[in-house]
Amino acid sequence: MEKNVMNRVAAVILSAGKGTRMKSGLVKVLHPVAGRPMVAWPVEAARSAGAEPVVLVIGHQAEAVGEYFKPAKDIRTALQEEQLGTGHAVSCSREALAGFNGTVLILCGDTPLLRFETLVRMIELHRSGNAALTMLTAMLENPYGYGRVVRDNSGRVRRIVEQKDASQDVQKIQEINSGIYCMESDFLFANIDGIGLENAQNEYYLTDLVAIASAKGLTCLALPVDDPEEILGVNDRQQLAEAGSVLRRRINRDLMMSGVTLIAPEQTYIDYGVEISPDTVIHPNCHISGSTVIAGSCVIETGTSISDCRIGNGCHIKAGSVLEGAELHEHVSVGPMAHLRPGTVLYSHVKVGNFVETKKAIMGEGSKASHLTYLGDTEIGRDVNIGCGTITCNYDGVNKHRTVIGDGVFIGSDVQLVAPVTVGSNSLVAAGTTVTKDVPPDSLAIARVPQVNKEGWRLKKK
Ligand code: UD1
Ligand code: CA
Repeated sequence: MEKNVMNRVAAVILSAGKGTRMKSGLVKVLHPVAGRPMVAWPVEAARSAGAEPVVLVIGHQAEAVGEYFKPAKDIRTALQEEQLGTGHAVSCSREALAGFNGTVLILCGDTPLLRFETLVRMIELHRSGNAALTMLTAMLENPYGYGRVVRDNSGRVRRIVEQKDASQDVQKIQEINSGIYCMESDFLFANIDGIGLENAQNEYYLTDLVAIASAKGLTCLALPVDDPEEILGVNDRQQLAEAGSVLRRRINRDLMMSGVTLIAPEQTYIDYGVEISPDTVIHPNCHISGSTVIAGSCVIETGTSISDCRIGNGCHIKAGSVLEGAELHEHVSVGPMAHLRPGTVLYSHVKVGNFVETKKAIMGEGSKASHLTYLGDTEIGRDVNIGCGTITCNYDGVNKHRTVIGDGVFIGSDVQLVAPVTVGSNSLVAAGTTVTKDVPPDSLAIARVPQVNKEGWRLKKK
C-alpha cells in the first residue's frame, strides 16, 4: 500500500502563455506539429511515463486548449488567469492536485521533442537519490537566454539563475535548465508560495525552488540529457519547423524499421497516428495524415496527399493524387492525378484513372472509371465501365441527387447522368447520351441528335 503511494506520479504541464513570438492568432501550444497540437506531445510523454492525472495549466485561449483534451479522463485543467511567472503557474495546479501525494513531473507545453524514456530516467534518479527536486539540464554551446545551473565546489546543484539576472560569471555557465522537473508534492506545495518577485522580470520564478530546497539542506539533482534536441522549446515558427522535422524523422524511422520503404525519408511527410504495413513503398513528396491506415504491399507514388483514408492491400496510388476520407479495398488503382473525396468507397480491383473526381461514390468490385470523370453521390455495381468524360449531374442548385448504376453496365464516353436516375444492370448507355430517365436492365439507352452529313459541302477557300 505504502509502496504504491510512493510510486505515484502526476504531471503539471505549463501551457498558459500566449507565445507572442509565434505572431499568430492561435495560442502557441495548439499549433500542429507532425499532425497534432504541440502540447499533445508532452502530454503523451507524461502519460507514457506513468503520470496520472495530468494537469494542464492554461490561460491564453484556455477554452480551446481545454476543448481539445475534453474527452481525456486523466487530464485536468487549471486556469492561470494572469501569467505571473512559472512559479505562479505551478501554484495554480494546487487544487487540481489536491489529495495527490507523490512525484510531480513539471513540463512545458512547448517542448514536443521530449521522450518519455528520459522522463522515466529522471524519475528513477530522483527517487534513488531521495531528492526533493530533480531537473533535466543540457550542456549548450550557446546557453544564451536560458536559466543557468549554478553548482557549488562539490558539484551540488545550488540554484538557477535566469539570463536576465545573471552576472558575467554566471553567464559563462553552459549547463542550462530545461524547464523540465520532477518534485515531491509535499516539498512543492509547502514551498511554492514562498517564492518572491525580487528579480529582473518581476515574475514568480519556479526555478527559485532550487535555492529554497538547497538552503533547507534538501537534495536537488540534475540529469543532463544526452541529446539537447529533446528539450527544444518552440518559441517561433522556425523552431516549429525544426520540431516538426525531428518528429517526422522519428515517425519515418519507426516505419522503416517496421518494414515500410520510404524512397526519400527526408521528403516524406507522415503524421502522428498514421499506420502503414510492411512492404508498402512510399515515393518522395507524399503527405499522409489523419486517421489514415495503409495496408501492406501498396505503392504510393510521388506527390500524393492522403488524409483520413483506409487503403487495403496491394493498392497503387499513382502520382499527384489527392485522397480524402476514402476507403479502398484490395488491389485498387487510383490516378495519376485523381481526387477521391470523402465517402468514396472503392471495392477490390477498382480502377480510377487520371482526372477523375469522386465524392460519396461507391464502386463495386472490378469497376473502372479510367479518364476525365466526375462521380458524385452515386452507387455503382460490379464490373461497370464508366467511359471517358462521364458526369453525374448530382446537383440541381439546391439539392444533391443520387445516381444508381447496376452491375455490368457499360457507360459510353461523354455521358451525362442527370440525377436522380437509375441505370439497370447489364445496360449500355451510348456515347454522348444525356440520361434523364431511368434505364431498365438489359437495355440500350441512346439520346443523340442524329448526325447529318451534307456531302459536297466545304469551306470556300477563296
Ligand atoms: C524557463 C526557466 C528557465 C529555463 C527555460 C527553459 C523560469 C523562471 N525559467 O524560462 O530557467 O531555462 O524555461 O525553456 O522558470 N508559463 C505559464 N505561465 C506563466 C509563465 C510561463 O504557463 O505565468 C509557461 C509558458 O507558456 C511556457 C513555460 O511556462 O510554456 C515556460 O515559460 P517561459 O516564460 O517561456 O520561461 P523561460 O523564460 O523560457
Ligand atoms: Ca521559453
